[in-house]
Amino acid sequence: MSRPRMILDCDPGVDDAMAIITAARWADLVGITTVAGNVELEHTTANACRIRELLGLDVEIHAGASGPLVGAQEFAHEVHGATGLGDLVLPEPNRSADSNNAVEWLVETTRSEEGIYLVPVGPLTNVALALRADPDLARRVASITLMGGSAQGVGNVTPVAEFNVYADPEAADEVFRSGAPLAMLGLNLTHQVRMGSMHGRECATFGTPVGDAMAQLLEFYAVFHLAEEQIEDGPVHDPCAVLAVTHPHLFTTEARSVHVEVDGTHTRGMTVVDERGLRADGPANCGVAYEADADSLVDLVMQAVREA
Ligand code: RIB
Ligand code: CA
Repeated sequence: MSRPRMILDCDPGVDDAMAIITAARWADLVGITTVAGNVELEHTTANACRIRELLGLDVEIHAGASGPLVGAQEFAHEVHGATGLGDLVLPEPNRSADSNNAVEWLVETTRSEEGIYLVPVGPLTNVALALRADPDLARRVASITLMGGSAQGVGNVTPVAEFNVYADPEAADEVFRSGAPLAMLGLNLTHQVRMGSMHGRECATFGTPVGDAMAQLLEFYAVFHLAEEQIEDGPVHDPCAVLAVTHPHLFTTEARSVHVEVDGTHTRGMTVVDERGLRADGPANCGVAYEADADSLVDLVMQAVREA
C-alpha cells in the first residue's frame, strides 16, 4: 500500500518527536514545518532538526511562527522540559532548518502538489497564516488532520481547552472555518492511547540510537504523568494524528459541527462540538475521532521505533 504524502506541522515536543518517528515509518513525508508551542520556536525547530538527523531523514524543515496570531504566548515547559525533549540530549544537527518561511513553503508546496495530507500537531498559527495567504489551500490538501481540541469538553490547559487550540484560538478558529476537509484528534481520543515506562524499557532493548532516544522520551513522559495523574503512562497525542491518516481503519469518527470559542472568560480555546445530530447548528465541518484501536496504534508506534 502506498504511503500517504504528508506535511507534519509540529512543536517538538516529546510527543511531536514520536509523531516524526511514526510519520517517517508510515507516511511519505514531504516536509516538516515548525511552530512555537510546547517550547520556543528556536527549540522546536532545533529539535526537529535533531530528530531528522537521528532518523537519517532527507526532508526539508521550515521554521514558522514564533507566537500566536494575537494574545499572550503559552508554553508547556512543565510537560516537555525547558528545551522540549525532556532530558534527552541529542547531538547538534549538521543541517539546520532549510528556511524560516514555513508559511510560504506550505502555500507553494501545496500549489505544486495537490492531495497532500497536512497534519498539524501544535498550535495552528502556521496553518492559519497559510490559509490567509492562499485560501485555496483548503481545497488543495487531502485533509487537515490535526491533533488538537477535544469533544466532550475535556481540557488540559483549562477545564475545557486543549493546549494546541488554547495556545492560538484565533488561528484554530480560522482553520475550522476554512472549508478544508478537517479531522480532529482531540483529547477525548488521545487519552485512550497511552505509553510509558514499560514501552520505554522495550525500546531500550532495540540497541539502536532511535530506540534509546524513545526510551528516554518515554521515561521522562512517564515520570511527568505519574506525578500529574498517578499513573505511569501518558497519552501519546501527536502520533494519533499521523496514524489517523496512515491507518484510518483503526479509528471511529463522526461528522460534527465544531466551532472554536475565542471570547469566553472561562471557555476561550474550547472546541465546541455539536453532538446533537439532526438538531445540530449548521453543517458538519469536521470528522471528530471518538474511538480507536489503541493497542494497534501503540504497536505501530513501537514498530516505527524498532524499524527506524
Ligand atoms: O494537548 C496536547 C498537545 O499539546 C500535543 O500536541 C502536545 O505536543 C502539545 O503540543
Ligand atoms: Ca505537539
